[in-house]
Amino acid sequence: NARTPLMAANWKMHLSVAEAISFIAALHERVGSSQDREVLIAPPFTHLWPLRETMAAAGFSLAAQNCHWEPQGAFTGEVSLSMIRETGCRYVIVGHSERRHIFGEPDEWIGLKTAAALARGVVPIVCIGEKIEEREAGLTEEVLQRQLTAALDKVSVPSADALVIAYEPVWAIGTGKTATPQQAQEAHAFVRQWLEKRFDKAVANGVRILYGGSVKPDNVDDLMAQPDIDGALVGGASLKASSFARIVQFT
Ligand code: G3H
Repeated sequence: NARTPLMAANWKMHLSVAEAISFIAALHERVGSSQDREVLIAPPFTHLWPLRETMAAAGFSLAAQNCHWEPQGAFTGEVSLSMIRETGCRYVIVGHSERRHIFGEPDEWIGLKTAAALARGVVPIVCIGEKIEEREAGLTEEVLQRQLTAALDKVSVPSADALVIAYEPVWAIGTGKTATPQQAQEAHAFVRQWLEKRFDKAVANGVRILYGGSVKPDNVDDLMAQPDIDGALVGGASLKASSFARIVQFT
């Protein structure tokens, strides 16, 4: 399996720059710069530039939490992919459920952002996931398929490491309710099959699919033991270096 586990902290709108710098030092002390797993942090935009050197020295990857698809223009409050790349980011989170549900981002925007990120050489972490009423109505696969199609129908993926998918069931985000390892595995296997149909076997086998939704030190090992779970996108439990370090050090 060539998929290096990707353990990602999504800090959302938390931590000051000073707190972030201490966090990175504490995390690095605990986990070192390991070659067999990739550590990623997505801080708020204002932190990207001040953190870039500390992050690079620690061997951790930097991600933005959002982007705009246009290269520049009159878009007050938005940040372009070239700006994001200039701050040392290799990755950008696209279509997080909070962007979709709190800020009303439609599927179409996720497609534009994904295409723009791929075109500009920033790896999109495309987030998908069903709501509880959709799961209970048996619509999980239909929703995932709709979101995957909107995000990826019009793009070409130059190589498997140019794209990451994050499966985050909305009912598991910030609720303390984790999907069972079996529920997550089923969804991940579905995503991988979809990738094979849309692209090819090499892309399907190489793209990392992260699970997100109440990942914690005490459930990460069982989740990571599933064959199609290649990492985690962690919110709440990524805000303390000790807890995120334990997640990075899943066994
Ligand atoms: O991006 C992270 C997800 O929204 C998960 O958040 O770990 O607080 O449930 P959580």
